[in-house]
Amino acid sequence: MSRQTPLRSARLRRSVLSVPAINGRALQKVHDLDCDGVIFDLEDSVAPEKKAEARENLKAFFAGKPLGKETIIRVNALSTPFGRDDLDLVLRLNPDAVLLPKVDEPQDVLGVSDRLAEADAPEELRIWAMIETPRGVLNAAAIAEAGRTPGSRLDCFVVGLNDLRKETGVLQQPGRAYLVPWLMQVVLAVSAYGLDAVDSVFNDFKDQKAFADECLQGRAMGFDGKMLIHPAQIKAANRHFGPDEQAVMEAEAIIAAFEDPAAAGLNVVNIGGRMVERLHLVQAEALVHKARLIAKRSIASA
Ligand code: COA
Ligand code: MG
Repeated sequence: MSRQTPLRSARLRRSVLSVPAINGRALQKVHDLDCDGVIFDLEDSVAPEKKAEARENLKAFFAGKPLGKETIIRVNALSTPFGRDDLDLVLRLNPDAVLLPKVDEPQDVLGVSDRLAEADAPEELRIWAMIETPRGVLNAAAIAEAGRTPGSRLDCFVVGLNDLRKETGVLQQPGRAYLVPWLMQVVLAVSAYGLDAVDSVFNDFKDQKAFADECLQGRAMGFDGKMLIHPAQIKAANRHFGPDEQAVMEAEAIIAAFEDPAAAGLNVVNIGGRMVERLHLVQAEALVHKARLIAKRSIASA
């Protein structure tokens, strides 16, 4: 059996903006926003008596011009009175992914995978999971491992700290000291099974400094990006989760060094007085790939 740790996705998920599906004005805005993905929320940001109206909004939105960004619909849990109708809507609208809230255990994902298979959903339709309950964090590894089950469709975890704080009593504090062990548990789980991980929302959208600090922290912890609640957060998330120029230059140097015929058969090379191992090559290629995706996007939107 291969001992290679699976690679995380090559997609850009630096900035994933949540938009309440009930908010028509916000929905109108998303075409012009520079986020990598949009989560259309049918869950916590939509009041129970507004769920049907929110679904109608999404029907109209998806009937319009394509978004050109990753599209994710956050449904209500299947255990709620809204879950079934939400999932039927997902099957009809065919976004890139469905985001399941409050995932506690592997079966929460695999039950939905089965339903999607029964409904002949296209293979490309992925499942994302909110890790936002104490059981979800405790079971993060087992849930991520469920992604290995054939047909599971599991692709990405999104941490939800508002729910997790509420359920555990951990206070909202700068630096998230008491939450870091749980956040790292999630990063470890996705890394073991080749999924992506998106860091939690930051509620105080007017505080750009504190938001930038939290992006830097999330990036340093190994998250791929951040779930956002407001357009004002997109720029900083793109900057802090995107590869910086220096890192791209270093990655290109690593690729060039191993392409050099003199490096054939070598597992370690010397680049400017620093040891670089062949295992860094895979990371370097992933980073350059993402940098190219970003460059392509900026040309397209120029
Ligand atoms: N997506 C797209 N556009 C958004 C947006 C979002 N998430 N949040 C705000 N906007 C738009 C507003 O519609 C507004 O546009 P307008 O000037 O044409 O009315 C503009 O950005 C400025 O918004 P602002 O006045 O600063 O905030 P607000 O009071 O309209 O909204 C929130 C503040 C927090 C209610 C809103 O940002 C929101 O609902 N965010 C998402 C919440 C969510 O998804 N929660 C569930 C996941 S935790
Ligand atoms: Mg939640």
